[in-house]
Amino acid sequence: MSALLEIHGSIAVIRIDNPPVNGLGLSTRTSINEFLQESLSRDDIAAIVLTGTAKAFSGGADIKEFGTDKTFASPNLPSVLDAIENARKPVIAAINGVCMGGGLELALACHYRITMSGCPIALPEVKLGLLPGAGGTQRLPRLLDMATCIDMVSNGSIYLSENLRQSALFDSFIDDQSSLLSSAIEFAIAKSAARPIPKTSERPVVQVGDPNLFEAARAVFHKKSPFLPAPIKCIDVLEMSTLHSFEDGLKKEREAFQFLLNGAESKALRHIFVAERAVGKIDGVNAETTVRTIKQVAVIGAGTMGAGIAMNFASAGIPVQILDAQAASLERGLLRIRQNYGATVAKGRLSQEQCERNCALISGAQDYEQIRDADLVIEAVFEQMEVKEEVFRSLDRVMKPSAILASNTSTLDLDQIAQFTSRPTDVIGLHFFSPANVMELLEIVRGKLTSPEVLATCANLSKKIKKTAVVAGVCDGFIGNRMLAQYTKQAAFLLEEGCTPQQVDRAIENFGFAMGPFRVSDLAGNDISWAIRKARRISKPDEIYSDLGDLLCEQGRFGQKTQAGWYDYTAGDRTAHPSALVANMIGDYSQKNGFKQRSISDQEIVERLIFALANEGRKILEDKIAARSSDIDVVYLKGYGFPRHRGGPMFYAELVGWDYVDAAIDTFSRGHRGETWA
Ligand code: 3HC
Repeated sequence: MSALLEIHGSIAVIRIDNPPVNGLGLSTRTSINEFLQESLSRDDIAAIVLTGTAKAFSGGADIKEFGTDKTFASPNLPSVLDAIENARKPVIAAINGVCMGGGLELALACHYRITMSGCPIALPEVKLGLLPGAGGTQRLPRLLDMATCIDMVSNGSIYLSENLRQSALFDSFIDDQSSLLSSAIEFAIAKSAARPIPKTSERPVVQVGDPNLFEAARAVFHKKSPFLPAPIKCIDVLEMSTLHSFEDGLKKEREAFQFLLNGAESKALRHIFVAERAVGKIDGVNAETTVRTIKQVAVIGAGTMGAGIAMNFASAGIPVQILDAQAASLERGLLRIRQNYGATVAKGRLSQEQCERNCALISGAQDYEQIRDADLVIEAVFEQMEVKEEVFRSLDRVMKPSAILASNTSTLDLDQIAQFTSRPTDVIGLHFFSPANVMELLEIVRGKLTSPEVLATCANLSKKIKKTAVVAGVCDGFIGNRMLAQYTKQAAFLLEEGCTPQQVDRAIENFGFAMGPFRVSDLAGNDISWAIRKARRISKPDEIYSDLGDLLCEQGRFGQKTQAGWYDYTAGDRTAHPSALVANMIGDYSQKNGFKQRSISDQEIVERLIFALANEGRKILEDKIAARSSDIDVVYLKGYGFPRHRGGPMFYAELVGWDYVDAAIDTFSRGHRGETWA
C-alpha cells in the first residue's frame, strides 16, 4: 500500500505514503483510488482529507515510471483526479509540504485546499520537457492570474505557499504548522454538508487583462529556449483554457503531453533528472560511512586556480588559508579574490556586506606550519610531478593526522602523488574547472587507496560549496578532459579536410552547444592547449594531432585576449569574425600535407565530434574510470556545456543507437586520420 487510511469520526484521512516524495506511481494511484472509493461508500464518512506523509504532499507523477507500461496503467492519474473532482463528498487537500507537478494537479482537483507556510508549490514538468498532463494547465488559470500561470507552467517556477497565500489557490492558511491536519479535519467537518460541492473545473478562467500576453510569452521562449518545444506548448495549452471549454482544453493538454512525452528532448531531460541524483551514489560509501568535519581549509598556490578554489569555501562560510611562499604572488592572489568578489557586487549579485564577510574568511600563509590544523588541504600548484612531490612530502610532514590531502591535478597520476605521503588513504583528487569559483563541476578523483571516509567527506563538502561532484578513477584527463581531447582533435582534423572554423562551430551550436570548439578555444586561450600539446608530444610521442593549433599560436593568435585566434576580434568586443588569414593558413597547411579537400555536411561534423566523445566515454566505462554511463553525461553537461536537452554524449549515442554510432565510426576510421578512431 502506498497510502494509509485513518478515520477521525466522520472524516476519512487518506495519507499518501510513498517515500521519498510521495510520487504518484501506479501503486500510489491505486491506493488513493481504493481508499477514496471506500470512503465514498461508507455511510459514516461525510468528507475526506487528502494529505501526505513526512515532508511531502506529493512530488508528482513517478518520473522513473515514465516510458514503462505503468505510466498510463489503470487507474491513470487523470482518472483518479476525475474521481476526486466528481466525488459526492467534499475532498479537502491538506498540503503539508512539497506539492509539485501531478501532486499539485491532485490538489487542484480537490474541492478545497488548506495549507501552511513553507510548502513548495510548482508545476515543474517543463523542466522534464513536458507540460502538466493531468489538468494542471486548465485548472490553474481558474484560480491564479495568467501571468503567474505562465511563469509556473512555462518556466516551472517554484512558489512558496506563503507567497500565494492571498490567492484563490488556498481556501485556508494555517499559521501553526503542527495543527495542519487537525485544522483540515475541522475544515472538513464544517464543509461536510455544504452543497453544491465546488469544482475548480467549473470556475471561470481568471480574466486575462493583456491581450498580447500569450504572444509576448511565446516570443520570450522562442528566444530563451529555441531548442525546446515544451515551453511554447505550455503557453499554447494555457491559452486553450481561455478559448475552449474545460473538457476541450483538457483534451488538447493530453495530446500535447503525449507528444512531448515521446519526444527526444523530454527523454533526455528525464534521463538527466535521474542522472543528477545517481551521481551522488558512490561505490563503497553509504549512510553509515563516517564523514569528517571540515571547519578549516587550506589551499596551496595563490594562482588563478588556487584563488578560485579558495573562494568556493569562503562563499560557503568556511575559513580558508592560501599558502604561497612568494609574498608577491600571495598578495596578487588575495587581491584577485577581492576584485572577483567586487565584480560580483558591482553586478548586483552579492551584497557589499557579504563580500566583506567572505573576504574576512580568507587569509594568507607563507609557511606550512601555519596551515597544519586545516581539516582539508588542496594543492593547486604547477602541473609537474616534482613540484607536487615537494608539496605532498611537506604536507605529510606537517598536517594533523585526520587531514585530507587533496590535489587539483588535471593530468598527473594521483596514485603516484599519494605515494609521496605515509597516508595514501587520506589522499584524493579534487579537480576543479576553471574559473573554479564559477564552474559547477567537480571531479572527485578516487585513488587506488583513497578511503571511503575521505570520499564521503569530499562528496558531502561538494554540496556545501554548491558543486556537482562526479567520482572518477585515475587516468590521464580523468573523465572530462580525456573525452575533450578526442573532440578537439577531430575538430582540427575537420579543418584539414576543408571545413572552416565557423562551419564547425555553427554545426555544433545548431546542435545546442552555446559555443563551438573554436570559439571556446579562443575564449579559453589557444596557448593553454598549445602548452598541453607541447608536454604531451614529449610524454606521448606517438599521439596524432593536427599541427594547425600550433601554427596558429606560433603567430601569436592566442584568442580573444590577443584579438586574434581562430577568428578575428576587435578591441572590447567578443564577436568572432571569420579570419582570411586563418583560412589561408589552413589551406596552405592542407595543401602542403596533401590532405584531400571535400565538402562536409553539418551532420557529419556533429557526428564526428559527438561520437568521438561517446566513443571515448565507452572506453572510460570499460576502464572503470566512471561508475556509470550517466555520470559521464553529467560531467559533460556541467563542465563542458553539452546541451541539456540532448541528455549528454552517452545518452545521445544510446538514443541514436550504438549500432548506428559504430557504423559511423567504422566509416570515419577509413577516412582522413582514420587511425585516431582505433
Ligand atoms: N518521481 C520519482 N522520483 C522522484 C520524484 C518524482 N516525481 N521526485 C523526486 N524523486 C526522487 C529522486 O529521484 C530522488 O531519488 P533517489 O533518492 O533514489 O536519488 C529522491 O526522490 C529525492 O529527490 P531529491 O534528491 O531531488 O530531493 P530534494 O529534497 O532535493 O527535492 C523535490 C525534492 C523538490 C520533490 C525534487 O525531487 C523535484 O523537483 N522532483 C521533481 C518534481 C517534478 O518534476 N514533478 C513533476 C513530475 S511529472 C508529472 O507530475 C506529470 C504530471 O503532470 C502528469
